[in-house]
Amino acid sequence: MSSNQVRPARPHTGVTEDGRRLAQVLTYTRRGSRMTARQSAAWERCRERWWIPDEAVDDPAFDVRSAFADPGAPLVVEIGSGVGEATAALAAARPSYNVLAVEVWQPGVAETFLRLEETGAENVRLLSIDAVWSTEHLLGERQVSELWTFFPDPWPKKRHHRRRLVNTSFARLAATRLVPGGVWRLATDWAEYAEQITSVLDAEPLLDSAYDGPAPRWAARPLTRFERRGIRAGREITDLTYRRTP
Ligand SMILES: C[S@@+](CC[C@H](N)C(=O)[O-])C[C@H]1O[C@@H](n2cnc3c(N)ncnc32)[C@H](O)[C@@H]1O
Repeated sequence: MSSNQVRPARPHTGVTEDGRRLAQVLTYTRRGSRMTARQSAAWERCRERWWIPDEAVDDPAFDVRSAFADPGAPLVVEIGSGVGEATAALAAARPSYNVLAVEVWQPGVAETFLRLEETGAENVRLLSIDAVWSTEHLLGERQVSELWTFFPDPWPKKRHHRRRLVNTSFARLAATRLVPGGVWRLATDWAEYAEQITSVLDAEPLLDSAYDGPAPRWAARPLTRFERRGIRAGREITDLTYRRTP
């Protein structure tokens, strides 16, 4: 985005002309933001080190790459990083990449700080603004080397399907943000959502499946709480990997 364009209002801040809160279909509901004492302490201790304040993006000149110590490093974006189990481990193993973890749930961000303190990964920044909006307004075309979406909320009830992250329009948007050859790694424990993701991404001309069908489990991806919960409930885990066309 060029510096003279005005960025539209962030979710939860837009109002209609007559002053009502703008209605938006989001892929999450605002869960409780109450934190434990340990999380609050982590929040205070770490937010300046790893977190991008919401207001920072209101500056039309804001460039997410400049939030990292090495703005020129290849960028990985993780959408819905939860408590940061994958983020902290994967980022620590990839010090030459910048990892932008987008998570709107504050206790999850604070938990991520605790994990980052353990692994010492300095190449991570967390952003707490809707990932769909952020992908559209903060990421440039061909800027993202890898996109990770592990266990996006499945919204299993049919009337909630419109809240699912991976739909036709988001697939197009995300694909445009990937560099040619860039990779989108996904995992879900909902067979029916896996089918939806597959049919949506197979239909996107800017993406090709890296495998003939589901991907093997990405060995580097840590087993998260959500994945364990899915397995305990008898659900099958599907990994999917797509690549941006040249
Ligand atoms: C089911 S959890 C999975 C967390 C983590 N990826 C894992 O595997 O453990 C999905 C997470 O995505 C976050 N989320 C959903 N939609 C989002 C959005 N549009 N922007 C940012 N975070 C989002 C939720 O707050 C939640 O923490």
